[in-house]
Amino acid sequence: MNQKFVIQNTEEFVRQKLEQEGTGHDWWHIVRVVEITKRIAQDEEADPFISVMAALLHDLIDDKVVVDKEVALHEVKTWMSSQQVDEHNQVHILNIIQTISFKDGNDTLTSIEAQVVQDADRLDAIGAIGIARCFAFAGSQGNLIYAPHEEPESNMSQGRYRQRNGTAINHFYEKLLKLKDLMNTSTGYKLAEERHQFMNQYLDQFYAEWKGMR
Ligand code: ADP
Ligand code: NI
Repeated sequence: MNQKFVIQNTEEFVRQKLEQEGTGHDWWHIVRVVEITKRIAQDEEADPFISVMAALLHDLIDDKVVVDKEVALHEVKTWMSSQQVDEHNQVHILNIIQTISFKDGNDTLTSIEAQVVQDADRLDAIGAIGIARCFAFAGSQGNLIYAPHEEPESNMSQGRYRQRNGTAINHFYEKLLKLKDLMNTSTGYKLAEERHQFMNQYLDQFYAEWKGMR
């Protein structure tokens, strides 16, 4: 089948699956990751078909989205077979979507296409959009926006002692501010720099407002 049609059909397949997703892996996340994938793939001379297919399918096997990862993998494979994606490409695409997630961040990515899609996925976690996703995710988990770390010697009673861990702002330090230096490609890095700078600016303003200074 023509690669253009395979991509169109796969868009429809993924859109239907993720339309109802509420944890930041919704269909519009995929749309953004695909757009940025196309851009980076072009600059980095990565295979556009492999890259876009992997970008489209990358969150269908995330255990935050699916109950059983093995079943989900099988479903993705069956889908690609139904679209007559050749075996060699299927293996490559499945390999990419299994290795790029943040959790497995220490794995060495074996292809330029994997590096491109991982960069695109990470870019969507930073900058203005990344900030929005971070607060949306925290809200979905019932987590706070921010809780300043109280010194043990403070007057607060034990019961009111709040941990900084687990808040949306804490997630900036746990992950978001680290992503710029984890970019695989130079195009990804260039795009990450502006988004990174914007997050720092955002934090400055956030803390100033928190203290009633601005
Ligand atoms: P992905 O599936 O894209 O690899 P995650 O599933 O880790 O990434 O996260 C999805 C989105 O939710 C990202 O924008 C991420 O920053 C955000 N997120 C993940 N964990 C937290 C958290 N503990 N607090 C706030 N946001 C989070
Ligand atoms: Ni993703």
